[in-house]
Amino acid sequence: MAQSNLFSPVTIPTRSGAGMTLANRVTLAPMCQYAIPARDGVPVTWQLVHLGSMAHGGFALLHTEATAISPEGRISDQDAGIWNTEQEQAWAKVVDYVHQHGTKISIQLAHAGAKASTYPWLPAQNEAKQVGSIPLDEGGWQTITSTDSELYQLAPAQEMSTEQIQRSLRSWAAAAQRAHEAGFDALQIHAAHGYLIHQFLSPLSNSRTDEYGGSYANRTRYLKEVVAAIAEVWPAEKVLAIRLSGEDWVSEGWRIADTVQLAGELYEQGVRAFDISSAGIGAFHGPSGPGYQVPLATAVKEALPDDAFVTAVGGITHPLQAEQIIVTGQADGVSIGRAALGDPQWANRAAEQLGAPRSNPQQYWRGRW
Ligand code: FNR
Repeated sequence: MAQSNLFSPVTIPTRSGAGMTLANRVTLAPMCQYAIPARDGVPVTWQLVHLGSMAHGGFALLHTEATAISPEGRISDQDAGIWNTEQEQAWAKVVDYVHQHGTKISIQLAHAGAKASTYPWLPAQNEAKQVGSIPLDEGGWQTITSTDSELYQLAPAQEMSTEQIQRSLRSWAAAAQRAHEAGFDALQIHAAHGYLIHQFLSPLSNSRTDEYGGSYANRTRYLKEVVAAIAEVWPAEKVLAIRLSGEDWVSEGWRIADTVQLAGELYEQGVRAFDISSAGIGAFHGPSGPGYQVPLATAVKEALPDDAFVTAVGGITHPLQAEQIIVTGQADGVSIGRAALGDPQWANRAAEQLGAPRSNPQQYWRGRW
C-alpha cells in the first residue's frame, strides 16, 4: 500500500502562526469517565491510567473527558473539573505523563447547563434506577440554562441572568488559564451535544428575548463571548479548538448551514481546529452507523480556509474507513471514541494495518500482533 495518509503528520495552525504538529491524524474523542468518587472534580489515578494507556496506543492527540469550568457545570457529580488549584495540579500530572510519550493533549472545557446534576451514566447507577437528575436533597444542584426548558426530562433549569452570563464568562477564562498552567497543548470548547453553549445556539432550547436569543446573531453571541474571553488568556501559540453539533436533526433546530456559517466566524476569532459531532438537544437523533457524521465535517471543511483542521467523529471504527476519510478529503483527521475504549491500542493497530510505523513505548517493543 502507498504511504498512509492517516499516519502522515499534520500541523494545526495557531494564532501566533507557530502551529502544533501531530505525528498522525488519529485523535482520541473526549469521553466522560465518571471516575471521581470523592465528587470534588479532582482527576484521580483513573484519568492517568486511562489517558496514559491511550498515549501508549499511538493516538497523536488525546482529548480529556468533558472537564467542567465550575462545580455546577458538571454533568454528574463524579465528573472532572478545572476550577481550582488542586484540580489543575492533578491534571498537570496527567499532562506530564502523556507528554513523556510524545503525545499531545487537549482539554475539553465544558459546562452542562440544563443537563448538569445528573447521575453518572454507569451500570451500577442504572441498575439502581438512578438515572436523570440527582435530587437537591441527595447532592444535586440547581441547574442553569439559556431559557427555562423542559426538553430534557430533567429537573427544571433556571434561565441565566445577564449577570450570571458575565460570571460564567469569567469561569471559562479562569479555567482556560488553569489549563494553560497545567500544560495542555490545546483547548477544545465543548459547544455540542445539548450542553450549555448548544442550549444558547439552538432555537429549540433558546427562546430568550434579550440580546442572547432570537436571531442567529443573538443565539451565537454567548459562544462568541466565550471564545473571546478564552482567547484573552489562552496563549496564541497554543491551539484553540471547538466541538460543535453540526445538526439538531430537526427542521426547526440548529442546522448544518448554521454550523458552516458559525465555523467561519469562529475561524475569524482564532479557532483553528473543529470537531464536528451532532445532536444533544431534546430527543432528536439523526442517522447512526458507520461514519454517520462524516458529511457534517466535510461541509465545514469545504467552507473553511485550507489551514483549518477539521476532524470527523462517530462510527469510525475501521482503519481503512479512517484512511478513506483522509484520502478522499472528507476531513483532515478522525476522532475515535468507543473503538478506543475497546482497544486502547487502536491507533497502533491501524498503523500496522496501513503499513505505517507503530509508536509503541519501548516497554512494549517486543509485542506482536
Ligand atoms: C462520549 N462522548 C462525549 N463527547 C464529548 O464531547 N464529551 C464527552 O465528555 C463525552 N463523553 C462520552 C463518554 C462516553 C463513554 C462515550 C461513549 C461518548 C461522545 C464521544 O466523544 C463521541 O462523539 C461518540 O462516542 C461518537 O464517536 P464513536 O464512539 O462512534 O467513535
